[in-house]
Amino acid sequence: MNNMLVTGGSGFIGSNFIRFIFEKTDFAGKIINLDSLTYAGNPDNLRDIAASHPDRYVFEHGDICNAEQLEEIYEKHQIDTICHFAAESHVDRSILGPGAFVQTNVIGTFNLLELARATKDRLVLFHHVSTDEVFGSLGDDGLFREDTAYSPISPYSASKAASDHFVRAYHETYGIPITISNCSNNYGPYQFPEKLIPLMILNAEAGKQLPVYGDGSNIRDWLYVEDHCDAIWTIMTKGKHGRTYNVGGDNELPNLEVVHQICDILDRIRPADKKRRDLITFVKDRPGHDWRYAIDFSRIKDELGWEPKETFQTGFEKTVRWYLDNTEWIERIRSGTYNEWLKQQYGEFSK
Ligand code: NAD
Ligand code: DAU
Repeated sequence: MNNMLVTGGSGFIGSNFIRFIFEKTDFAGKIINLDSLTYAGNPDNLRDIAASHPDRYVFEHGDICNAEQLEEIYEKHQIDTICHFAAESHVDRSILGPGAFVQTNVIGTFNLLELARATKDRLVLFHHVSTDEVFGSLGDDGLFREDTAYSPISPYSASKAASDHFVRAYHETYGIPITISNCSNNYGPYQFPEKLIPLMILNAEAGKQLPVYGDGSNIRDWLYVEDHCDAIWTIMTKGKHGRTYNVGGDNELPNLEVVHQICDILDRIRPADKKRRDLITFVKDRPGHDWRYAIDFSRIKDELGWEPKETFQTGFEKTVRWYLDNTEWIERIRSGTYNEWLKQQYGEFSK
């Protein structure tokens, strides 16, 4: 691997991945971060890396939906490895407007696969970063395994499922060297504050309402983002081509419990007049809200030796502190279109 294209490297997980590669691995090549900088892409996330690695980190402002532009960037850097993060990633936005999800997640992935096919002789690997949401929803028992049938519920998960199928098809049909990871919910630094954990931290700190969908009993399996980055790199370096790996945190929690923990940590480290739990407001449920996600990650554990290092107890407090400490990062987001989105999504609760 010499010239690695990371798509969506300015987003939450992509930027953590690039930082992880430079700081925690022996990868000696170049990283080309191709990102169209949607609302979720933020050059601030990698300003330090850009400054400290000017010879090995390149940013290209480009759109994976633009096949011509993509090819130009791909050839300019003689890409031999792809780690594909770029996506529209928020379920609520996919319910409000699915079109962008089909474009980026399906067509954008197809454009990348076509380049991989055209340059098959020099391609080392196409790693596709995907989600556990492709499997749909679990009941009270059971775990998602790699052979669980796909059953996506939201337009977001349907678009990710379609992209997974295309990636697998390009391996089976054209022999493209691929790996796929399907991961559970990530948390940690640099996550756009539309997602549950950063949204709740920022609202609770500001004394705003905490909008919990339904009765807050839906369950997610939380993984610290750096553990996810480690899993992706483990798969890229040790995984078997054509194979899928499930990645999870072994940290199942109902949403209300997550919000309670945020409130309690904030009350302890930033005491306020009002208990943060009093800000919790139960709002209309998300349509098609998946009930429970939980992962069987024994394949990546047994075959590749990966397992999560952080527990919710260790990873969570440092995440809360990160959002409290990085006020400049937050202020820049707030000065964009963020508040308009909150208003559209939650109406009066954003006030
Ligand atoms: P994110 O929304 O924070 O970042 C997405 C990035 O992709 C942004 O930088 C954005 O500008 C870029 N992008 C979007 N459309 C693009 C386009 N057309 N061309 C180029 N760049 C484009 O998302 P995230 O949470 O970091 O997720 C990254 C990947 O990981 C996604 O593929 C997502 O499906 C997957 N995933 C996320 C989670 C999670 O909990 N966040 C869990 C499992 C898998
Ligand atoms: O499981 C992996 C997926 O996790 C990724 O593929 C997605 O990209 C990522 O966004 C995430 O999807 P979720 O829908 O699970 O994440 P979100 O943070 O939006 O919501 C987590 C849970 O919290 C979900 O049950 C809905 C609920 N929720 C969310 C928000 C934003 C609330 O109750 N209130 C909220 O305001």
